[in-house]
Amino acid sequence: MGFSVDCSESARLSMHDTKTVDRNRLHTLHQREEKRFVSTHPRSAELYLRAQSSLLGGVPMNWMNKWAGAFPLFVKSASCAHFTDVDGHEYVDLCLGDTGAMTGHSPQIVAEAVARRAREGITLMLPTEDAIWVGEELQRRFGLPFWQFTLTATDANRFSIRIAREITQRPKILVFHYCYHGTVDETFVSLRDGVVGPRRGNIGPPVNPAETTRVVEFNDLAGLEEALKHHDVACVLAEPAMTNVGIILPDDGYWSAARELIRRYGALFVADETHTICAGPGGCTREWNLQPDILVFGKPIGGGIPGAAYGVTEEVAQRIAARLHLEDVDVGGIGGTLAGNALSLAAMRATLEHILTPAAFAHMIPLAGRFADGVAQQIRGAGLAWNVTQLGARAEYTFSAKPPRNGGESAAAGDFELERFLHLYALNRGVLLTPFHNMALMSPATSESDIDLHTRIFAEAAGELTA
Ligand SMILES: Cc1ncc(COP(=O)(O)O)c(C=O)c1O
Repeated sequence: MGFSVDCSESARLSMHDTKTVDRNRLHTLHQREEKRFVSTHPRSAELYLRAQSSLLGGVPMNWMNKWAGAFPLFVKSASCAHFTDVDGHEYVDLCLGDTGAMTGHSPQIVAEAVARRAREGITLMLPTEDAIWVGEELQRRFGLPFWQFTLTATDANRFSIRIAREITQRPKILVFHYCYHGTVDETFVSLRDGVVGPRRGNIGPPVNPAETTRVVEFNDLAGLEEALKHHDVACVLAEPAMTNVGIILPDDGYWSAARELIRRYGALFVADETHTICAGPGGCTREWNLQPDILVFGKPIGGGIPGAAYGVTEEVAQRIAARLHLEDVDVGGIGGTLAGNALSLAAMRATLEHILTPAAFAHMIPLAGRFADGVAQQIRGAGLAWNVTQLGARAEYTFSAKPPRNGGESAAAGDFELERFLHLYALNRGVLLTPFHNMALMSPATSESDIDLHTRIFAEAAGELTA
């Protein structure tokens, strides 16, 4: 498979020494870090306490309670690759809003375009010329001719699924074990001993997702074919490389064979490039010539202003058109009053024209390589059986000797306790990692010194863990 340089085998850095982490030592160190966090963030603590009486769980959105530390940091301001909390500490942001701020925080050109548009009308339910500019640019980047806009990647995925069901007249979708595609009901599903059921933590599933979804492991062509053989799968919804259970790269030749199977069994391929856009300006679709039927791209598309897009092939466009009736277009389950609003489109245009450019990727991708090399060297030095994987502008370390090949393997290598300790250790020294796994993302504003700071902190933590 034609991986870009940064997605090649050489980027999979495997460690073979097997020093394990002593749990007592980990607990002692964690307690020390917890105390340090609480004592150095009194203002965040105070706001968190106050928030308990007006916000459910003390946070604006429930996953904000997952941050390492006794409470989430409250942010004062953010700019480029850094932010400052209400206690006056400055941080290097390697989480970047879990990709929503992959552009860096508030890029000036985007902020100016947004301010201008905010003065000239924010939302009208009528198109602006920016929408055409963005559609043409997405067409050029991804090769799909026709585009629609939503407010979130979740919605873009939901609408793609509806379209796939409608035009194939098939009831099910297929996803990979441990996928994440936003809060899409059909995707909160997992395999347990080969049986499909609700994923752990699935809150109030409307139906058992086994009714709506088939689940297979990534990189398993035989499993994929077996699931498609039922001829009831409308679409395979997939990230080209998995990024939400650690980074999992496709095996060489996987996608060309998988693509052929999906086509052979009459299903559609929906490529969710919301995170894998990190592979290049046209995502993995462009880098690896994936030829999806539908493509989804959200999060950083508007520099942090809510917005997402999905594009379709000529054939899909024709099949949709054949089934749409003007009188019913507003009640088909695809929509959103604020979708395609003027403000989102102005932000998308500025972001695509000036920020997420080929030149930006040429800066970001080597930085992710620097992160991966630096961390891998420290892992080797500490004799730990961990590894680092890179996908374009994103890199991640995993607590297993070899890079996992599928979601099941990656989840089995997870270590929540260890992860929280390492995140808190970094936070206490001025670096923010994503709360969900050990992912670091580069922005056009991230610098080598930002990466080197993380490497030094990681080295210190690994040293203390293994001393
Ligand atoms: C691959 C992928 N698709 C879709 C989404 C959903 O994005 P949003 O929460 O902005 O709707 C996410 C969120 O993490 C994601 O990782």
